[in-house]
Amino acid sequence: MLLIKFDTNVGPTMGKGSGFGKVILFNEHFTVYGIPSIVSAIDRATTATVEPFEGTGWTIDDRREATPGYKEEKFEQQKDSMERILKAAGIDTTRDPIKITLGGSLVAASGIGASAASCTAIARALSDEFNLGLSDDRINEFAYEGEKGYHGTPSGIDNTAATYGGLIWFVRGAPNVIEQMKLERPIEIVMGNTGLVADTKAAVAGVRERREKYLEKYDKLFKEAEGLAHKARKALEGYDMNAVGKLMDENHRLLQAIEVSCKELDFLVALAREQGAFGAKMTGGGLGGNMVALTPGKDLQEKVAQAMEREGFEALRTGIG
Ligand code: MEV
Repeated sequence: MLLIKFDTNVGPTMGKGSGFGKVILFNEHFTVYGIPSIVSAIDRATTATVEPFEGTGWTIDDRREATPGYKEEKFEQQKDSMERILKAAGIDTTRDPIKITLGGSLVAASGIGASAASCTAIARALSDEFNLGLSDDRINEFAYEGEKGYHGTPSGIDNTAATYGGLIWFVRGAPNVIEQMKLERPIEIVMGNTGLVADTKAAVAGVRERREKYLEKYDKLFKEAEGLAHKARKALEGYDMNAVGKLMDENHRLLQAIEVSCKELDFLVALAREQGAFGAKMTGGGLGGNMVALTPGKDLQEKVAQAMEREGFEALRTGIG
């Protein structure tokens, strides 16, 4: 069970909220076009507190641990995101000035759902502070609005994982399909951080441009991705880790083909496989950020994580399911 810690000097009238980090196991990018995808929340979360502020408007004190450069690079997008959440929630900070403080156990980095986790945490904290009584579905809607500040046209997969947690079959549509999947027991994974801050908006826009240019090639790749998602769901629900790993490898190949991987991600993927990971792939927006290796059992997880650390990369030992 995830333990979410808040600052101990949090006042009694402060609104509080949290949002999970995530790992996309199958079909990031393809999901933007309604291809089924699979995402899992991880046991790391961002926390937010909201309190009245003696000033004008709103201010953020971002105390999250972060990949160097991440906060600076995302600053303008964070401001845009914040305005969108406030607008969706109908909060007028010229009348009710607020201070938002971000913290928690999720390191702010690309590919791990940091933006979505913060949007969900903020939406929950606003609901708490202003007694809005928002349901999870409404929180998810507001977090989605916030995600637009970071992604432009997000699929909604990240805020869905950040809000509901668990292992989710996600299909973008009207409405989105959001189905909780069950695993026999949790599985260890390692997330390897390239240390590169990536721009998801640009990565998504790049896929769109290339898809328009090479429609036939991309159609074929998208069909493959769709077939793969169904096989992956069956393999996960049947707890067939060998099959899940092979399908992750296949998914990485498709992501390389749509040009969202990079040499650092490919290096970590190859390293994880060499060390015995059942499968490995980039995860999230790509062009930097994180990759994920399937490493059932603590020993294998440790072996793969240590190999990444020896090469100078950060490795997060976490799990799915
Ligand atoms: C980013 O975590 C996932 C993408 O598929 C974008 C999105 O779905 O909004 C790249």
